[in-house]
Amino acid sequence: MDRAPTGIDGLDELIEGGIPRRRMVLVSGSTGTGKTIFSAQYIYRGAVDYGEPGIFVTLDERPSTIREDMLQFGWDFKALEDKGMIRIIDGTVTKVGIPSEEEYALPETGFNLDKLLVEIIKAVKEMGVKRLVVDSLPALGFKYDTEAEVRKAILKMSYVLAKTGVTSIVTTEIPENAGVYSKYGVEEYVADGLIVLRYGALGGRATRTLQVRKMRGTKHSEFVHPLEITRERGIVVYPIEEV
Ligand SMILES: Nc1ncnc2c1ncn2[C@@H]1O[C@H](COP(=O)(O)OP(=O)(O)OP(=O)(O)O)[C@@H](O)[C@H]1O
Ligand SMILES: [Mg+2]
Repeated sequence: MDRAPTGIDGLDELIEGGIPRRRMVLVSGSTGTGKTIFSAQYIYRGAVDYGEPGIFVTLDERPSTIREDMLQFGWDFKALEDKGMIRIIDGTVTKVGIPSEEEYALPETGFNLDKLLVEIIKAVKEMGVKRLVVDSLPALGFKYDTEAEVRKAILKMSYVLAKTGVTSIVTTEIPENAGVYSKYGVEEYVADGLIVLRYGALGGRATRTLQVRKMRGTKHSEFVHPLEITRERGIVVYPIEEV
């Protein structure tokens, strides 16, 4: 099977080399667990290490904040945007209702999933995009009433994305210790993979962990792995033996 290496140290070994191409993987976690860094690292390393153009659709944080924060890890998004290797699509404007200062943005009014997909298809054609991130799914603000409708919307997204040939990561938020994997409780069934990030405090210092909860077509690790966010390498995942 053809796979997209995530570029996250220690993770590809846990999933037989990477995410199956043209699939959609959900990265789920409560606030501050590293979902945005994970996503940005996937796009950045994809461009730099594997020469694969990527799109980062941001719905939570302004693009300028992302550029600034990722520079902390030495990841120069701006330089790669200038080279046409990365495109950040500003989707935050749909929530605040004022026009974006960004070159690529979603319309500030009347946002819907179809408009987002059209924007993505356009970018795929223009840049030969191989990787895509949507951060985050709940920020799309589904105004659907039933679980079935949310499920349908996400399924549509994964169908369209698969057709474009991109391998995608979509983040979703969950309340701490909620005992669920996703916001709507249905995303994980539709997605081809589910990676769970956790932040736990047991006594002393809080520990971060990563668990591959599902990865279709893949014999993945069955363990909960320690994770660190480092200045030098961004997110690093450790083998369980080192605990
Ligand atoms: N340069 C850095 N070095 C080490 N750790 C960092 C660095 N920058 C951020 N972090 C850690 O990462 C956390 C933020 O990660 P990130 O923004 O990816 O989380 P998130 O899951 O997307 O959260 P949110 O709910 O805000 O979207 C910070 O709270 C901090 O603990
Ligand atoms: Mg985030």
